[in-house]
Amino acid sequence: MHVVQANGAEIPAVGLGTWLSPGEACRGAVAAALECGYRHIDTAQLYGNEAWVGAALADSAVARDEVFLTTKVRRDLLRPDQVAASVEGSLQRLGTHIDLLLIHWPSRSIPVADTLGAMQRFVERGDVSHLGVSNFTAAQVREAAIHAKLVCNQVEYHPYLAQRAVKAACDGLGMALVAYSPLAHGHLLREPVLDEIGRAHGRSAAQVALAWLIGQPGVAAIPKSTNPGRIRQNLDVDFALTGEERARIDALARGLRTCAPPFSPDWDPS
Ligand SMILES: NC(=O)c1ccc[n+]([C@@H]2O[C@H](COP(=O)([O-])OP(=O)(O)OC[C@H]3O[C@@H](n4cnc5c(N)ncnc54)[C@H](OP(=O)(O)O)[C@@H]3O)[C@@H](O)[C@H]2O)c1
Repeated sequence: MHVVQANGAEIPAVGLGTWLSPGEACRGAVAAALECGYRHIDTAQLYGNEAWVGAALADSAVARDEVFLTTKVRRDLLRPDQVAASVEGSLQRLGTHIDLLLIHWPSRSIPVADTLGAMQRFVERGDVSHLGVSNFTAAQVREAAIHAKLVCNQVEYHPYLAQRAVKAACDGLGMALVAYSPLAHGHLLREPVLDEIGRAHGRSAAQVALAWLIGQPGVAAIPKSTNPGRIRQNLDVDFALTGEERARIDALARGLRTCAPPFSPDWDPS
């Protein structure tokens, strides 16, 4: 699996998502993923499974420094004092250092410089390697990048959601775009165009969606599964699509957001 280079970070192009992957199911998924070759795991304070991710990492035969581990600071804990306490909690639950620490959602009230300043202290202390953001619009990511060296914006991205503005902003700042819900939270699994292209490559619709994503410079993807067979399948996606196939997939864009809670920012048109 190739890595995405972004402002000093090397992010494996496919990582394991763990949202809605609780307890033992999460531990089993992370263990299966590490065993079959994943070297990138995505969690968050909000998911309530950091301890299970940490346990799987600790039990694995894979050396910790070979794995790229991301977690995210909750949106209701973005004041500097809250960041300090909550990241201490993440470090304790994970039982290991954090490779990439993200702001999970932008705040409407707390200046991003203040939050990033508090996160930066953990970088200086050596407990966190890189900082980034998630669910930031193009304008928000440009503003945030003034205040810290950021390596990614993690946003929803898949063939049904083009994300042109955010992608252009990340490219301009040397940041990766980490695609969450890369299978549109399951909506893409029965897409006939992906299915047809998949048949030509002996792959599934899910694998075609992931190949389309990670075939783009600067893009990584974090599909979630708790099924060992599908976990393995989602890593076997470093294959080339033809220009014509890519164009057919590009044409599927329809502005579908599967993750748009009421506190979302005013999204860029997509
Ligand atoms: N930053 C944020 O605000 C944010 C928001 C949403 C998500 N995320 C991250 O992104 C990750 C992925 O997003 P997601 O969980 O929304 O959805 P997703 O990865 O787009 O889709 C997951 C769904 O697809 C199924 N699936 C996975 N691989 C498959 C395959 N090869 N064939 C058939 N079905 C397959 C899974 O079921 P099984 O488990 O049964 O295989 C699950 O129902 C999350 O887990 C989380 O880490 C971040």
